[in-house]
Amino acid sequence: MTYSIIGSGSVGAAIAHRFARSGIPVGIANTRGPQSLAPLAGELGDKVVPLTLQAALEADVIILAVPFRAHRDVARAAASWQGKVVIDATNAYGVPLDELDNLPSSAVVAKAFAGASLVKAFNHLPAKVLAEDPVGAGGRRVIFLASDDDAASATVAKLVERLGYAAVGLGRIAEGGQLVQARDKTWAPLIFQDLFKKAP
Ligand SMILES: NC(=O)c1ccc[n+]([C@@H]2O[C@H](COP(=O)([O-])OP(=O)(O)OC[C@H]3O[C@@H](n4cnc5c(N)ncnc54)[C@H](OP(=O)(O)O)[C@@H]3O)[C@@H](O)[C@H]2O)c1
Repeated sequence: MTYSIIGSGSVGAAIAHRFARSGIPVGIANTRGPQSLAPLAGELGDKVVPLTLQAALEADVIILAVPFRAHRDVARAAASWQGKVVIDATNAYGVPLDELDNLPSSAVVAKAFAGASLVKAFNHLPAKVLAEDPVGAGGRRVIFLASDDDAASATVAKLVERLGYAAVGLGRIAEGGQLVQARDKTWAPLIFQDLFKKAP
């Protein structure tokens, strides 16, 4: 399984940090090209590989860490999304509901990435918290997952656990997933809830 992160800002860099700490190779891309990522890769070590956007889109699992409206540009950059898993870490906070056809923002992202299996994850915590060691408080920091595809959700849960967090599934995007969807100028109830799951 290969992984890449699209976006090298606060969230992309925080997630890259966790890949590096967990010893899991990951590609990373932004709009400015691999040279612009050299300082980040230099800081995080050789597991984090700067790529062009096109090269990053070849991964099996792609983490979308771009501003919400930029998801369309990323979706257009690949000829096909068939068979890919896309992890949607975006938040559409402040995006008017009519721009989303009144759908959860992840359903809008899923439509743009037709053919891919979409899992919402990594969006509910501030980037600086995501980058921290997820082990603490007698357990592991929770990452919520929401998806309409059980197999993709299981794939992402495994990744989340390998990165050191505890994966907690919320069910389908339009059901339990609403608990982590920003809507217009409202944050959903589980956004910003920094929870730890105790070891059994
Ligand atoms: N900041 C947080 O604490 C936080 C927490 C959870 C979720 N989120 C969500 O995560 C997403 C990213 O937030 P952020 O704070 O990390 O944003 P950010 O710091 O502004 O970084 C955005 C990144 O996306 C890249 N990008 C934009 N358009 C692109 C495109 N078409 N193709 C490839 N890369 C593109 C930018 O590339 P360049 O570097 O080349 O400009 C930049 O690296 C947002 O949807 C946000 O709502 C943010």
